[in-house]
Amino acid sequence: MSDLQQRIEAAIATPKNLGEMSDADSVGTVGSPECGDMLRMWVKFREDEQGRQVIDRATFQTFGCQTAIAVASVATELVAGKTVEEALAMSGEELSAPLGALPPMKIHCAQLVEGALRSALASEKPAPEPAPSTAPSQAPSLVDSFRPAGAGERKVQVVLKSPKVS
Ligand code: FES
Repeated sequence: MSDLQQRIEAAIATPKNLGEMSDADSVGTVGSPECGDMLRMWVKFREDEQGRQVIDRATFQTFGCQTAIAVASVATELVAGKTVEEALAMSGEELSAPLGALPPMKIHCAQLVEGALRSALASEKPAPEPAPSTAPSQAPSLVDSFRPAGAGERKVQVVLKSPKVS
């Protein structure tokens, strides 16, 4: 097994910051045109000691491959404490750097993470409040992205095999 594969497997064994964030300040969702996978990222801001608005924490949820999960895990740790400008300046390569260089066929997986982060930072809007009929602790999930309009009563069950936000 390659070093990269070992680092990816270690990252997905205990993914960091996995799951919805009910009190997020912004949320961004992107889909990959390369593979059709999707990734959503939630971001919460805080003011640092110098009065700058920085990322307090970021979490993610994805219908993506192991590489996307691993990159999102390390990226959400890397962006904590950064300003929006600093986080926007990070490329997919930088966001996945702790894992090592990705092979060409997996670069789009890191770009999916980069895109979701950019989308979340561009929106900088509070995540929508959950509708009264939904569980109050649940922010809109990635599953909602796949639910056609008018199909609100359709039941979709997603079983996460990974632990929630650590
Ligand atoms: Fe789709 Fe990796 S193959 S995100």
